[in-house]
Amino acid sequence: MASLPLVLITLLIHLISHQVRANDPLFFVTTALVNFDARVVQGWSGGGGERWTITNDSNYPFAGREFGAADRWTLKGTQTFGSGYPYGNVDNSTIAGRPFPYGLWPLYWGNNMMGSDEYGPALDGIRPGGQLVTIPLKTEDGTFNITEGEMYHIIGDRDSATFMMISLVTSCHVTPAWPSKFDPTSPNSTVKLENVVQYYRASSFALASPGYNNTFAQGNTNTESTESTPITDNMLYSEFHKCLDDVILNALPIMNWPPAPSNTLGDTMGIVFGILGLPILVGIGWVTIVICTLISGYRQNSRNRKMYARKNREAQLAARKESLKYEQFP
Ligand SMILES: *[C@@H]1O[C@H](CO)[C@@H](O)[C@H](O)[C@H]1NC(C)=O
Ligand SMILES: *[C@@H]1O[C@H](CO)[C@@H](O)[C@H](O)[C@H]1NC(C)=O
Ligand SMILES: *[C@@H]1O[C@H](CO)[C@@H](O)[C@H](O)[C@H]1NC(C)=O
Ligand SMILES: *[C@@H]1O[C@H](CO)[C@@H](O)[C@H](O)[C@H]1NC(C)=O
Ligand SMILES: *[C@@H]1O[C@H](CO)[C@@H](O)[C@H](O)[C@H]1NC(C)=O
Repeated sequence: MASLPLVLITLLIHLISHQVRANDPLFFVTTALVNFDARVVQGWSGGGGERWTITNDSNYPFAGREFGAADRWTLKGTQTFGSGYPYGNVDNSTIAGRPFPYGLWPLYWGNNMMGSDEYGPALDGIRPGGQLVTIPLKTEDGTFNITEGEMYHIIGDRDSATFMMISLVTSCHVTPAWPSKFDPTSPNSTVKLENVVQYYRASSFALASPGYNNTFAQGNTNTESTESTPITDNMLYSEFHKCLDDVILNALPIMNWPPAPSNTLGDTMGIVFGILGLPILVGIGWVTIVICTLISGYRQNSRNRKMYARKNREAQLAARKESLKYEQFP
């Protein structure tokens, strides 16, 4: 397990940067507006748990499909678009109609490649993690011995790609760069279908290199095909490439275990804390008000103020309870 130290180092960096910068790689995927069903996608998550079904609220395009439950061990696909589905790959010829094992949608390449048009830019507004983006990955500080022109790109939803950048910059000395909109149908798109070196997470994330041209990619009609142009030696043995692949496999955000049923201990503790925490806050508030009153010497009607504080407190309590409901999704 040569990658184990790297895992520990990146995890450590993650923990430190989490505390210092509060940059937790976590986002919600809301799938229904009738019951606010939501699941959390998180970097480093182990995934797993039960599958969920998207509730039919008559407006969500993928109502009735299953999602979630896949774990990190099955994250790696092949060089073939549509690969890497731990479940849902019953029809090898298309990705249309498939579930979302990691909670995220597959990439979209245009021309209805492998049936991907249903995940096209028309639905960018509700794509989990945000619209598809690409980020160039260069390293320039001399840590890695890079061969001439060796360079990569990641492609994926905006939030996953941005979170990955934090790990890749810290762990693989990647030169910082911001995402740009991924538009595969534009003739001057920097990454093409045949450049993909590796798909991850049920083909919802990819590592590509302009120096790689997989001649099997364009004409392929089988998501389980293992035919591909061999990766050149300089990429195959590149420590930089290995680092990128390892960090993506370890850190790429995937869907968490489902939330515990409500009224569990954690739930109750949350509400108890919410209730007990408020009097303390109100107490501090009152002390502040008293001091302010003494200093400024204002004489205001204390009855009015009491009434205002009580109303304020009631409103805060109600809002707190309401927000806890949403926050308790794991
Ligand atoms: C969702 O519900 C609507 C009516 O409420 C129905 O017409 C539609 O077929 C349902 N879709 C699915 C996928 O069950
Ligand atoms: C999918 O492809 C594999 C390998 O090419 C093949 O063995 C399998 O039968 C195919 N499954 C279906 C459902 O077409
Ligand atoms: C970098 O790689 C080249 C080609 O493989 C090799 O000749 C050179 O010695 C390497 N440099 C270092 C510092 O490892
Ligand atoms: C990219 O393509 C568009 C047309 O699709 C063109 O207008 C634009 O100038 C091109 N940009 C570059 C940098 O070549
Ligand atoms: C890959 O090779 C094919 C055929 O040689 C060519 O048409 C295509 O433009 C190449 N793609 C890239 C990204 O270089």
